[in-house]
Amino acid sequence: MDKKIALLKDKINQANLGGGQARIDSQHKKGKLTARERIHFLMDEGSFEEIGMMVTHRSTDFGMEREKYLGDGVVTGYGTINGRLTYVFSQDFTVFGGSLSETHAEKICKLMDMAMKNGAPLIGLNDSGGARIQEGVVSLGGYADIFYKNVQASGVIPQLSAIMGPCAGGAVYSPAITDFILMVENTSYMFVTGPNVVKTVTHEEVTSEELGGASTHATKSGVTHFACANEIEAINHVKKLLSYMPQNCEEIADHLPYETADESRPELNTFMPENASQPYDIREVISAVADADSFLEVHAAYAENIVVGFARLAGRSIGIVANQPAYLAGVLDSNSSTKAARFVRFCDCFNIPLLVFEDVPGFLPGTDQEWNGIITNGAKLLYAFSEATVPRITVITRKAYGGAYDVMNSKHIGADMNYAWPSAEIAVMGAKGAAEIIFKREITSAENPEEKWLEKEKLYSDIFANPYRAAERGFVDEVIEPAQTRTKLIKAFKMLENKVVNNPRKKHGNIPL
Ligand code: COA
Repeated sequence: MDKKIALLKDKINQANLGGGQARIDSQHKKGKLTARERIHFLMDEGSFEEIGMMVTHRSTDFGMEREKYLGDGVVTGYGTINGRLTYVFSQDFTVFGGSLSETHAEKICKLMDMAMKNGAPLIGLNDSGGARIQEGVVSLGGYADIFYKNVQASGVIPQLSAIMGPCAGGAVYSPAITDFILMVENTSYMFVTGPNVVKTVTHEEVTSEELGGASTHATKSGVTHFACANEIEAINHVKKLLSYMPQNCEEIADHLPYETADESRPELNTFMPENASQPYDIREVISAVADADSFLEVHAAYAENIVVGFARLAGRSIGIVANQPAYLAGVLDSNSSTKAARFVRFCDCFNIPLLVFEDVPGFLPGTDQEWNGIITNGAKLLYAFSEATVPRITVITRKAYGGAYDVMNSKHIGADMNYAWPSAEIAVMGAKGAAEIIFKREITSAENPEEKWLEKEKLYSDIFANPYRAAERGFVDEVIEPAQTRTKLIKAFKMLENKVVNNPRKKHGNIPL
């Protein structure tokens, strides 16, 4: 028996070495951790249990039968993160560049099945040269098997992808389907075709970092939700993100213990600028209303005219969507609509209540927006809010103009409670533009058109630049002092905690994509 146990130990040691010490050293030299080191930092100490450590590839072409590594380039298993069951796969770049073989894919699929059956999140730590070139179509089949399971698991369990090295070609589509992507600055990149192919086809000269690095995807494309300074930061973000989520779609996120305190926030009564055109940072309102230091912004550097992220309110996990007056006056455009719609759908999948702060002057005009489908993209946000069955509350802080008023979680599309601050202006458009249109004849025929315009602007403003017309109709449930916002929200979310909505039976809706 001793010999047999020695053999087992020998195999475990071999597996732990992946592609060998030289390749581990080279990984470290690039500023990257190994697959196993990443798992070590991610999971609670001593909790990780590996599955499939002895798996090897079955390829016999190009002499591959002579080059086998235990585990075949991916470490898979389960453990706990902050005490909660979590499944993880971590690609090992030291084995054939972390490339995906038939068996590598099988290991990931097996884990995905387990995660779905047992209702726990799945984390992918990606570091791979793509399809195992020596295996050809078998490897492509492996990718498709993973994509298919990603889709099956979507909305059932949270799926998070941290990109910690290359992720190119077809490999990008598994992370793209998952709920959140995190990338690491300077050591990770994602693209469908790399700089060489780009140069051949479009004659553009571009580096990997420019084409598909973390900053590029965090700001230009929105592909990644987080750009992290290093791998440890990315791992810590994964843990924090998970803390706002339940294990699966049948559960609700843990409430943190919370002791009632003085919930009034008097500083908010003097927060709003006197001039309605003056910008302010909505994140200051979020910080004042949410539990201290609980706000985790998602997609912070992309489509900054809308702010989305997770927070806690009296210990309860909530998703926040807020127009950002400090950027493009908080206008809705294609990118901000798509960004917010995806976030709303995530929260709805996983029973995370939604809080909306609204200060929106409307949709961004222009050929760029129209030709890039603001109609379809704006409809995504409208659709996402309308179909969401989680508790939904809106606070109108200032402008709620035009179609954007309807879209931003209005009562008409199913919001449960709608509050307005006294500074709210709920109208078809700003008073200046409205006066110009409806009093056009009077203004142009007046002796002093400018004066007449101002007079009519004031008239329109007196009637509509307030929350009371909407409150008279019940479109706003209550006009509140800003200082009361947190108190009101805590009570209302508590009141809504057992909300049940029965939507009409259907296979699935057809969100405008
Ligand atoms: N299939 C099989 N082996 C691969 C591989 C793949 N897709 N990608 C990388 N490898 C192997 C390399 O042969 C090398 O093996 P070695 O350690 O025995 O020398 C090892 O992984 C590391 O690759 P290397 O090219 O030395 O690393 P790098 O950091 O310089 O470059 C990549 C990384 C990913 C940019 C580069 O390996 C690459 O372009 N790979 C192919 C990408 C691709 O086209 N994939 C298929 C389409 S999805």
